[in-house]
Amino acid sequence: MTDITQTGATVLRARAPEVDLAELQTPEFQALIARMIDAMRKAPGVGLAAPQLGVSKRVFVVEDKEELMAALSPMEREERERVPVPVRVFVNPEVTPIGEEKVMFFEGCLSVAGFSGMVARYREVEVKALDEKGQSVTWRVRGWPARILQHEMDHLNGTLYVDRMVTRTFGTTPQVKALYGGKPIAEVKKLLGVEVE
Ligand code: CO
Repeated sequence: MTDITQTGATVLRARAPEVDLAELQTPEFQALIARMIDAMRKAPGVGLAAPQLGVSKRVFVVEDKEELMAALSPMEREERERVPVPVRVFVNPEVTPIGEEKVMFFEGCLSVAGFSGMVARYREVEVKALDEKGQSVTWRVRGWPARILQHEMDHLNGTLYVDRMVTRTFGTTPQVKALYGGKPIAEVKKLLGVEVE
């Protein structure tokens, strides 16, 4: 694994400061973006925030690929609304929920390596941010990409998924995968004694 900062480090618990436009255009900042994309792909993961490389700045990257979801059955993909997302960079992002609906699935974090837990997230969100060139972007999205955005946004505010998870669902990733594999999420919740709403 690349040197991704692990939980316990204070940089993962700080509110990361905004990036100004002048800084965004520097070679140093562009190199940071490249390092983040590289680290995300090497891990591999579907998102990475700057604090995870020890850099307290409001920027995260996301990318989800077919090969990363290859182990999921069609039913699992559909339940999660998991679809490929091309690589994207979000600087000074703001994530706003659309509607009230939340959905609960297992998620993990490259900074809490080896574990997973169930987290309720808004099903649909809108993100407003600057891209890597400093252009304003807005993206409204639902399902798994919306979950990724909420998870990465949390990183910029010093929050980890373990702060939001249903603690009794916390487990090592191999055990969790063996547990949910092929089962509807409602059944998994029942097995773990999670209140089904
Ligand atoms: Co994370």
